[in-house]
Amino acid sequence: MKPFTVLSLLATGVLAAGPPSGFRCLCTYGQSCWPNASEFSQLQSQVSQPLIHPLPAASACYPASDPSGNCTDVIENWTDGVWRSSIPGAMQTPNFETFMFKNGTIDSCYLNTTLTGTCGQGGVPVIGVDVRSVADVQAAVNFAVNHTLKLVVKNTGHDYMGRSAARGSFVVWTHNMKNITYEPTFVPQGAPANETYDAVTLGAGVQWYEAYDAVNLHGRMMVGGASAGGSVGAAGGWLAGGGHSALAPSYGLGVDNAVEITVVLSTGEYLTVNNHQHSDLFWALRGGGGSTYGIVTSVTYRTYPSLPVQLYMFKANITNSSVAQELVGELMHYQTQFTDDGWGGYGELSNASLSFSYMAPNMTNEAVIATTQAWINYTQTLEPQGVTTINLYRTFPSWYEWYQYLFSTGVQNGINGQITSRLLSRDTLENKYKEVAEVLVDCQGLFNMIGGGKVNQIDPNSAGLNPAWRKAVVETMCGVSWPDGTPSKEIEGMLDQLKSWIKSMYDVTPNDGAYVNEASLFEIDWQQTFFGSHYGTLKGIKDKYDPYKLFVVHEGVGSEEWNKDLICRL
Ligand SMILES: Cc1cc2nc3c(=O)[nH]c(=O)nc-3n(C[C@H](O)[C@H](O)[C@H](O)COP(=O)(O)OP(=O)(O)OC[C@H]3O[C@@H](n4cnc5c(N)ncnc54)[C@H](O)[C@@H]3O)c2cc1C
Ligand SMILES: *[C@@H]1O[C@H](CO)[C@@H](O)[C@H](O)[C@H]1NC(C)=O
Ligand SMILES: *[C@@H]1O[C@H](CO)[C@@H](O)[C@H](O)[C@H]1NC(C)=O
Ligand SMILES: *[C@@H]1O[C@H](CO)[C@@H](O)[C@H](O)[C@H]1NC(C)=O
Ligand SMILES: *[C@@H]1O[C@H](CO)[C@@H](O)[C@H](O)[C@H]1NC(C)=O
Ligand SMILES: *[C@@H]1O[C@H](CO)[C@@H](O)[C@H](O)[C@H]1NC(C)=O
Ligand SMILES: *[C@@H]1O[C@H](CO)[C@@H](O)[C@H](O)[C@H]1NC(C)=O
Ligand SMILES: *[C@@H]1O[C@H](CO)[C@@H](O)[C@H](O)[C@H]1NC(C)=O
Ligand SMILES: *[C@@H]1O[C@H](CO)[C@@H](O)[C@H](O)[C@H]1NC(C)=O
Ligand SMILES: *[C@@H]1O[C@H](CO)[C@@H](O)[C@H](O)[C@H]1NC(C)=O
Ligand SMILES: *[C@@H]1O[C@H](CO)[C@@H](O)[C@H](O)[C@H]1NC(C)=O
Ligand SMILES: *[C@@H]1O[C@H](CO)[C@@H](O)[C@H](O)[C@H]1NC(C)=O
Ligand SMILES: *[C@@H]1O[C@H](CO)[C@@H](O)[C@H](O)[C@H]1NC(C)=O
Repeated sequence: MKPFTVLSLLATGVLAAGPPSGFRCLCTYGQSCWPNASEFSQLQSQVSQPLIHPLPAASACYPASDPSGNCTDVIENWTDGVWRSSIPGAMQTPNFETFMFKNGTIDSCYLNTTLTGTCGQGGVPVIGVDVRSVADVQAAVNFAVNHTLKLVVKNTGHDYMGRSAARGSFVVWTHNMKNITYEPTFVPQGAPANETYDAVTLGAGVQWYEAYDAVNLHGRMMVGGASAGGSVGAAGGWLAGGGHSALAPSYGLGVDNAVEITVVLSTGEYLTVNNHQHSDLFWALRGGGGSTYGIVTSVTYRTYPSLPVQLYMFKANITNSSVAQELVGELMHYQTQFTDDGWGGYGELSNASLSFSYMAPNMTNEAVIATTQAWINYTQTLEPQGVTTINLYRTFPSWYEWYQYLFSTGVQNGINGQITSRLLSRDTLENKYKEVAEVLVDCQGLFNMIGGGKVNQIDPNSAGLNPAWRKAVVETMCGVSWPDGTPSKEIEGMLDQLKSWIKSMYDVTPNDGAYVNEASLFEIDWQQTFFGSHYGTLKGIKDKYDPYKLFVVHEGVGSEEWNKDLICRL
């Protein structure tokens, strides 16, 4: 590994164009420091696309703000993640398009136009670059550094902490970096010629549905995210935070499957990083958090031969919460065995039911029965307490067909809310499963069965990822949501409820962490919770590769050096 130092930056002369020394605050829209029209036209001359002026998703419903928009389209597509990600100013969780002033007033652009009558810009960035190439990203980064702008990187806008938006900011929108290149004998830069991978290289804007379609054409499958419509980004925040998948118990997490990353630094330098060059940055980009070290322009992932997949779906109707606690507790207790057997999947609770959907690649019919029968037998013992169950099995000829069956349609975005999550370790599932179930039943939460198995076998120090993942089997989630127009006082009340679930789950599992990509702005001891013992090393790598401190996001590595709004350095 070749060390990268500030001296080498000086040698290239890049540092000379950096921000004024001793800067404390970033520049936001409306301030006198904001670039004027002729400065923006200079930027325009350096990039391939017209500069963008993002608007909130509902702007088309306010002719005064967006005269050419079509509100019917907006209403029809509001909850569609693929549609939302195609709009530079739309966030998947619309509350992050709004901005709450200290006095409680919310600047918003609600879909329901009668609530305020006007479309406010809220937290949506005001101007930015629709990047299509590395050169576009470099021009945008140089411009932001030169003018000490508050910068955000937005890919799909799925971030659960609103980190792809910031009021008055300049945005680098990666959505249209859509290149996909499949290479059955990919050799990382700097690697010996015989180190080959059957791999696919995805541009920063590729989304999971596109990646899956592409590798399926070659008879391959890959570790990736799952959401209705497949709208989550495949090479942005997902990988930066860790990247979980129903295939993770068999093949590891996203960070375990990335073999090379390309990235533009705040200095404007473009690096290709992997285990052979800049391996410290490669390590940090795999789990050390999004928008912290640089702007990723592509990721190369391993692919696997497409295999047949078994599906196991379970649903139980439950009469009351004490029965629910017993059933959910036992399910948690069974998880380690399920994931070690190769099952991965997703589950949810409502006030009257528990359901989950498991999948396993390349499992025989006999193994399906053998690995689920004890659980089914157990659930039948609850029949006298009014629990009714359905167990459903199905074989799919390929992973892709399983994915199409469950995720190709449906919607799950466009709802205001915040979530918290917790990674439950093997130890917790062995010893605290009843206590965990109590919290989960109380919040009517979700759970992702995406740890265990291979995830737990990989060296915790092989990636910057939170080491808590290497003990984790299940990720639980609790959340709150609210309709447009909810007053800030009521929203604060919802967030207090969220905080109380955070506290309850933390108290039961003080040694387990949380997934930085599916969490709230209120996690206890966030550095430890999200990054564990890797925090200090990640901070060193951040400081080394981002000397201009361009990249800062809420609860990201190094963000403790900034004020609450992440505008001024402390
Ligand atoms: C409906 C839904 C389903 C989900 N399913 C899964 C799942 O199955 N598995 C899973 O692990 N997670 C899942 N997530 C969580 C998901 O991983 C995170 O929301 C993730 O941050 C999304 O990344 P993005 O690039 O798509 O979104 P964005 O909001 O655009 O970006 C997220 C963060 O990464 C930064 N970022 C984005 N691109 C870059 C880049 N090129 N360079 C540097 N920084 C960048 C942004 O600045 C932001 O801070 C899901 C989320 C939702 C809302
Ligand atoms: C824009 O700002 C630059 C730098 O401050 C200044 O030199 C230039 O005159 C300004 N241009 C206009 C049109 O105001
Ligand atoms: C808006 O879109 C809808 C559906 O696509 C279409 O029927 C309608 O004519 C459009 N309205 C305008 C004003 O373009
Ligand atoms: C949005 O909704 C309209 C119907 O109004 C539909 O025709 C169109 O396909 C949708 N667009 C997207 C991108 O989903
Ligand atoms: C709250 O503060 C904002 C921004 O300063 C201001 O525009 C708004 O009028 C204030 N609202 C109230 C109710 O005072
Ligand atoms: C829009 O908001 C108004 C005022 O609160 C309310 O009466 C109406 O029902 C809302 N409309 C929809 C479609 O939610
Ligand atoms: C995308 O692929 C095309 C064709 O191979 C190539 O010309 C272009 O440079 C690539 N873009 C990026 C950003 O890699
Ligand atoms: C920085 O901004 C100044 C003033 O607008 C401009 O003259 C200069 O070319 C810019 N430098 C870079 C590297 O963009
Ligand atoms: C590549 O070749 C070297 C030298 O012949 C050998 O030591 C190494 O094991 C090979 N690696 C792989 C991945 O085949
Ligand atoms: C799939 O399972 C069969 C046996 O059931 C085994 O022979 C084969 O190696 C497995 N394939 C993969 C890719 O794991
Ligand atoms: C489940 O119950 C059936 C029928 O009572 C029994 O034959 C089987 O051995 C049990 N299996 C397990 C794993 O408990
Ligand atoms: C829950 O249901 C079970 C079985 O019907 C019953 O024994 C128990 O008393 C109920 N508990 C509550 C709190 O209603
Ligand atoms: C649960 O209840 C619903 C509605 O009463 C019913 O349609 C469904 O079949 C039941 N499911 C199970 C697993 O008993």
